Parts: sequence; structure tokens; C-alpha cells
Amino acid sequence: MAAMEWSEDLSVGNELIDHHHQEVFKLVTMLDNAISQGQNTEIVETIILFLEDYVVTHFQEEEQVMTEHHYAGYDQHKEEHELFKVKVADLRNKYDAKSSPITLIFNIRQIIDLLVDHIRHVDIGIASLVAHGDHH
Ligand SMILES: [Fe+2]
Repeated sequence: MAAMEWSEDLSVGNELIDHHHQEVFKLVTMLDNAISQGQNTEIVETIILFLEDYVVTHFQEEEQVMTEHHYAGYDQHKEEHELFKVKVADLRNKYDAKSSPITLIFNIRQIIDLLVDHIRHVDIGIASLVAHGDHH
């Protein structure tokens, strides 16, 4: 698996979006540390709240940038965002239904891995827009 670290080559050229992406990478370290210190419950709640905000606020920011630049790949990108929203809502349901910490952590890890993948392969498409200005 690829290293779980944000690097400059993943920059989309938008400071706010890059900052949020860096936070996603940090979640992995946070999660691993919490598990090794036996703080499963606290970290699960913290991360769920982060993800719930991320799939609304952050995705909206990306979608706005893509709309402003008339991005051709918008529909496909937006579709991936919608899938993440479903996954995070499903995670929330499991949490509210008192699923075991192991189940929740496994599910969180899956979502984070997919988000990192999305940052690497889909969000990177935004970089050309920001770099080249309008109508690309
Ligand atoms: Fe995205």
C-alpha cells in the first residue's frame, strides 16, 4: 500500500482544499495512536464527526471550484462524492446502533483508505483547473 502521507505532488493548488486533504492523511496516524492507547471510543466519535463534516463542507468546496472552471469531469467526480456520503451515513448508523469498536474502526479505516485513493486519483484532476484558469 502507498505511504499514508500527503506530499506536494498531491497539491491541487488551492490552499483550503489541500489543508483538508492533509487532515485526512493525519486521521490514519490519529486512529493508529488511539488504538494503541486503548482510546477506541473517543477516536471513533471524533473521526465520525470529522467525516460527516468533510463529505458536506469539503466536497462542496471542491464542487464549487469544479463548477467555476466548467470542469468536464464534474459528474464523475460528484458521483464519487455521493458514494462517500452514503458510506459515512452507513458508518453513522452503525455507530448509533452501537456496533462493536472493532467493526467501526474497520469501517472507518476502509473509508479513509478510499478517501486517500480519491485524493490521489480523482481530486488531483482539480489541479489542472486551478493552474490554468477558466474553461478547461
Ligand atoms: Fe473530491
